[in-house]
Amino acid sequence: MGGSQLLSPPPKLLGSLLFLLWLQEFYKLDNVLLHSFALVNQQNEEKENTFMVAASPNSAPQPFLPLLAPSPMGTPFFHNSTPKLSGRCALNFTSVDSLMRTTAVDCWTSFAPFLANVICCPQFQATLTILIGQSSKETGLLALDSTHSKYCLSDIQQILGSRGGSSDLQEICSIHSSNLTRGSCPVYDINGFESVVDSSKLLSACGKVDPVTECCSQICQNAVLEAANKLALRNGELMTSFSIGNSLIEHSSKIDSCRSIVLRWISTRLNTASAKQFLRRLSNCNVNRVCPLDFPDTKAVAGNCGNMIKNNTACCHSMENYASHLQKQSFITNLQALGCASLLGLKLQEMNVSTNIYGLCQITLKDFSLQVGTQESGCLLPSLPSDATFDLSSGISFTCDLNDNIAAPWPSASQISSSSCNKSVNFPALPAATSSQFGLIAADMMLGVIFSLLSLLVMLL
Ligand SMILES: *[C@@H]1O[C@H](CO)[C@@H](O)[C@H](O)[C@H]1NC(C)=O
Ligand SMILES: *[C@@H]1O[C@H](CO)[C@@H](O)[C@H](O)[C@H]1NC(C)=O
Ligand SMILES: *[C@@H]1O[C@H](CO)[C@@H](O)[C@H](O)[C@H]1NC(C)=O
Ligand SMILES: *[C@@H]1O[C@H](CO)[C@@H](O)[C@H](O)[C@H]1NC(C)=O
Ligand SMILES: *[C@@H]1O[C@H](CO)[C@@H](O)[C@H](O)[C@H]1NC(C)=O
Repeated sequence: MGGSQLLSPPPKLLGSLLFLLWLQEFYKLDNVLLHSFALVNQQNEEKENTFMVAASPNSAPQPFLPLLAPSPMGTPFFHNSTPKLSGRCALNFTSVDSLMRTTAVDCWTSFAPFLANVICCPQFQATLTILIGQSSKETGLLALDSTHSKYCLSDIQQILGSRGGSSDLQEICSIHSSNLTRGSCPVYDINGFESVVDSSKLLSACGKVDPVTECCSQICQNAVLEAANKLALRNGELMTSFSIGNSLIEHSSKIDSCRSIVLRWISTRLNTASAKQFLRRLSNCNVNRVCPLDFPDTKAVAGNCGNMIKNNTACCHSMENYASHLQKQSFITNLQALGCASLLGLKLQEMNVSTNIYGLCQITLKDFSLQVGTQESGCLLPSLPSDATFDLSSGISFTCDLNDNIAAPWPSASQISSSSCNKSVNFPALPAATSSQFGLIAADMMLGVIFSLLSLLVMLL
């Protein structure tokens, strides 16, 4: 089988790239100058010891050292305007000022649609949760009423917009004012909440969410769900109503609403930074689980690559053309890229494409991500992406991983059964970390990629 020559050797895995996106003009990505620069990888010698690096909680997170600073193309336009506030929202915005600043940068005007799924919307939602949680300390309520929710959402949008955030966040992130209310959760006051839910159990499960293991162990997620269930069943609801299909749907939407109430309550028990971290880590599990890309019709690829491939050039040409449609959509994480590669591969296999055309056509994981500027290089975000940052000299920046061209794994029956949670089973060296260090996250992610490389090797041999 072809394709093995495409494998980057594991030693290159630590390579990383930091993209600095310069804001020249706001409304077209085309007009954003991209400066990327290679970074010193001072751990060259240690590259093969990834497992050891990963296993040591004390290993300093330093994979991103600039080799040379880009020459500034001028100070990016950064405008702090005055938000037009309704005056009718009682949320205390000053108490979460730095959170709002971070959110505005994560959701920066022209970038918001491209970072929406992975960074911007999770951060925006965390901000809303924390704001309402904060206000419950004054009001005793873990939800806004429907009138105030409209004013508050509009005010939040105004504040973020005044700091450079996109003005379309509600649309981009599908947030409605109803998302700030109690929805259909019957319990939303703090006293009622604490009389129904085992608070100490909830806090011990969620007070410190482990970024490495939570997505698989679901310790906090299960505790949140259990609490939401208890709240939803309050109000004298009888389980017998379950026999009717509609009630089941009703009940599940109730649980969704109560889940928001639970998250708000937990965030009141943590300081803002910890609450944000907790919420982002939870939402990240959902983010990585799903490939966010829209796949256009695969007919053309199947036509050129299906059954027996008659002409490799024509097949790869149509595959590359197909990939170019994926590359206009969104920044994605490395785990999402694995999922996307698998999803597309399965679609193609259903259309009788039996050859590993990722291998044949040298399709890499990076080919599934947004390609920026004229560099024709994708940027895969780490599985737990950090926030975007802004400074006057470098503009908006965020960290990308995987400088290397990791071949996209062509799915096989054995691979489908091995979910990403299976990796920790295969790699006992995975750190049992409770630390928040990015170094650990990066290391975990690399384990993931090494895993996929190994499984690919197994498939090819
Ligand atoms: C808002 O929060 C800040 C900081 O936490 C506090 O100093 C201020 O008194 C609060 N304002 C109101 C109106 O509660
Ligand atoms: C907001 O609420 C609507 C229902 O009113 C729901 O469909 C949607 O998923 C919610 N959005 C988020 C981001 O939770
Ligand atoms: C294969 O396809 C390419 C491009 O579609 C074409 O230029 C070339 O002539 C084809 N080769 C054969 C052997 O048909
Ligand atoms: C796939 O191939 C089988 C026979 O090999 C055929 O019956 C089927 O119609 C093909 N499916 C597609 C989508 O081309
Ligand atoms: C892990 O993957 C193996 C195959 O690689 C599969 O047999 C097993 O059922 C998977 N375990 C879980 C928990 O998904």
